[in-house]
Amino acid sequence: MSILKGKNILLGVTGSIAAYKACEIVRLLTKTGAGVQVMMTHSGTRMIGPATFAALSGRDVLTDLFPKTPKAGLEHIHLAETLDAIIVAPATANIIAKTAHGIADDLLSTTLLACDVPKLFAPAMNFRMWRNEATQSNIAVIKQRGVSIIDPTHGQLASLAVGEGRMAEPQTIVDALQKLLGGKQDYYGKRVLITAGPTREPIDPVRFLSNRSSGKMGYALAAAARERGAEVTLISGPTALEPVAGCDFIAVETAEEMEKQVREKAPDQELIIMAAAVADFRIAHPETQKMKREGSTPILKLEPNPDILRKLRPITDAYLVGFALEMEEGRKNALQKLREKNLDAIFLNYADRAQSGFDKETNEGILFFKDSEKEIPFELQSKNSLAHRILTAIRNEMSGREKRKG
Ligand code: CTP
Repeated sequence: MSILKGKNILLGVTGSIAAYKACEIVRLLTKTGAGVQVMMTHSGTRMIGPATFAALSGRDVLTDLFPKTPKAGLEHIHLAETLDAIIVAPATANIIAKTAHGIADDLLSTTLLACDVPKLFAPAMNFRMWRNEATQSNIAVIKQRGVSIIDPTHGQLASLAVGEGRMAEPQTIVDALQKLLGGKQDYYGKRVLITAGPTREPIDPVRFLSNRSSGKMGYALAAAARERGAEVTLISGPTALEPVAGCDFIAVETAEEMEKQVREKAPDQELIIMAAAVADFRIAHPETQKMKREGSTPILKLEPNPDILRKLRPITDAYLVGFALEMEEGRKNALQKLREKNLDAIFLNYADRAQSGFDKETNEGILFFKDSEKEIPFELQSKNSLAHRILTAIRNEMSGREKRKG
């Protein structure tokens, strides 16, 4: 669960071309379960309409210190009492200067002065304005007073000039906020590859062999790792799920395609979790034309698919985690797979329990480790919460190994 869930975040949007990117920030924040109140400066409203933010956030957008229909009391003071954090994105040189000097001449600058909550600014401006000594000294002042700054990146700016001044990406801003509010970042910067979902093996151009995997466990792991700061690559077979925001998402169909992608990415990874339900067999000779009903009943000849996980150890130093879906003799089979596939850990879950395993919202199981010969049981819980617990257990083992290696 994200640290932002249930939090009340104010998003201040000021007058930079990057204002359109703030829409994505609202979307990402809302997805974490945070409530988002958008506040815009007048120049901000010239860049993008408040109606867009009202629709995305589900709340009225605040723009005026003295609204046409005055509300009882002082809105910004009431607001100050309910907020958990303020993001200003994009932050212009102007709002940075006003914040540095305590100027309160519009709703946003007044609110910034009145609210004693964590603040995060994502500057966006022309590179000359960013480099200007006045801006840099204002940045130094607000930093020193505890405002977090996400430095703009180098790239092409609105003027088509190339330089430092582009606003950081929305996901980077949301990640920084999670970190600021104390979210766990124990995977910060770690490269993590996760596979998810089933594979589809074609019979003919319209039919395929597959399995009941929904991809939910793998996607939950990807989202959890992302939230904790990892750089996640999610390689997924066909599922009904939306790609996980902020992950490098690669869609595949067959086991062969999945293998190709996994092998390409594996050498760079620090952790690989194979949660995908890879089809063990494929059709030996798929038809190139749709099979007709007339004629004799076809007999499908199968051949084995490559075992993706079993062949990974020689090409990567990543910590390797497999999933074992079992019905009987689960422990024995999982431990055998741990050994034979040369894994660091394996998560045993069950194919024959009412509320866990394939295509369910909840899951349970046991995580076995090679190094410590330890096992950790996990009781039935949502796949999201289980994903976090599995990641915590894996992280502890990885740290133990890093320490042993010195
Ligand atoms: N796996 C894989 N490639 C395959 C089959 C499985 O990489 N062709 C991976 C899965 O992603 C999972 C682990 O291997 O992490 C165990 O999968 P499972 O199907 O339980 O193992 P199998 O070795 O195929 O054994 P079984 O005979 O029980 O199906």
